[in-house]
Amino acid sequence: MTLTELENAKARSLEEIGAANDAAAVEALRVKYVGRNGLIPALVKGMKDVPKEERPAFGKAVQAWRAEAEAALQAKGAGAKGQGEAVDADLTMPGRWRSLGVKHPLTRVIEESAAIFGKLGFTVADGPELENRFNNFTALNTPPHHPSMDRSDTFWFGDDCLLRTQTSPVQIRTMMANKPPVRVICPGRTFRRDTTDATHSANFHQIEGLYVDCKDKPVSLADLKSVLAYFAKEMMGAGVTVRFRPHFFPFTEPSVEVDFSCHVCKGKGCNVCKQSGWIEVAGAGMVDPRVFKFVGYDPEEVSGYAFGFGVERIAMIKYGIPDIRWLYENDVRFLSQLG
Ligand code: DAH
Repeated sequence: MTLTELENAKARSLEEIGAANDAAAVEALRVKYVGRNGLIPALVKGMKDVPKEERPAFGKAVQAWRAEAEAALQAKGAGAKGQGEAVDADLTMPGRWRSLGVKHPLTRVIEESAAIFGKLGFTVADGPELENRFNNFTALNTPPHHPSMDRSDTFWFGDDCLLRTQTSPVQIRTMMANKPPVRVICPGRTFRRDTTDATHSANFHQIEGLYVDCKDKPVSLADLKSVLAYFAKEMMGAGVTVRFRPHFFPFTEPSVEVDFSCHVCKGKGCNVCKQSGWIEVAGAGMVDPRVFKFVGYDPEEVSGYAFGFGVERIAMIKYGIPDIRWLYENDVRFLSQLG
C-alpha cells in the first residue's frame, strides 16, 4: 500500500464509521479496522516490507489512522453495549465492602481531652521530646539528688539532654514564652527507664494541664477540683466523681493524687479498681512559688494549678484494656475492636 492509498483507505474507513447506525455495524467496523486481525494491525505487521526511507512517514500515518479510527469508533459507542440493551450486571448486588480505619485509642483519648478542656478555654501547647535538665527538672523545683534524675530512671544523652520523663517541662516552656494568664494542656510522649510489663512501658503518654492567673483572679485548689470533676464526667461518664489524696511533687504545693470513682462498679469495688472503688489517674496541685520564680513570674502576683494525666491509664480504664503492650503492638485484631 502506498501512502496515498493509505490516506484514501483511512478516509473511507472514517466515512464508514461515521455512517454506521447500529451497534452491530459499529462492532463489524471495529473488527474490520482495529480488531486483532483487522486492517490497521496488518499494516503494522507489514511495516518491515515498506522501503526503508518511506518507513517513518508510513508508520506515522498508520498510527494516526489507528488513533482516529479508535476515537471515531469510541464516539459511536464501540465496546459499550448498545442503547436500550440490558446492562450485564446485577444492580441489586451489595457494594464492595471497604474497611475504614479507626483512630488509635491513645489518639482518641488525647483528642477527646483537648475537646473537653477546650470547652473550658484551655488551648493545646506543645514541647519537644528531647529536653534539657532545666526544663525537665531544675525549673520544676527538682533537686539535683532526686532519684528521677538517675541514669537508671531516665534516658540521658550527655549531661544536659534527655528524653523528657514527663510533660511538665511544657509548663516551663509555656510560662517562659507567655505572660499570665495561661491556660494550656500539653499532650505528648514521655520516656522512663522502665522494664515493660502489663502496666509499665518505657514510652508512654501524658497530658499536662496548667492554669495560672493574676492576683485579681486568684486560683484555688477548689478550681482545680471542679475542672477535674468536669473532665472525669465528660471522659468517663456522668456518674464518675473525683477525690484528692495528699501527695508530694516538687513542683506543686500542696500536691495531690487524683482518683476517679470506678466507672465499672460505681465505687462498690471490682477487679478494675482492685476492690477499692477508686482508680488513680493523675497527679496535681497548686504551682509551687519556686517554679514561678524559675520562669520569671512573681509568686506574689500570680497563682495557679497544674495536673498531669497518664493517657494510657485513661485509655485502659475507659476501654477495658488489661495490658498496656496492646496499645503499641499495632495488632488490627485488637485495634479494630475499639472502632
Ligand atoms: N509530672 C508528674 C509525673 O509524671 C505528674 C504531675 C503531678 C503533673 C503533679 C503535674 C502535677 O502537673 O501538678 O509523675
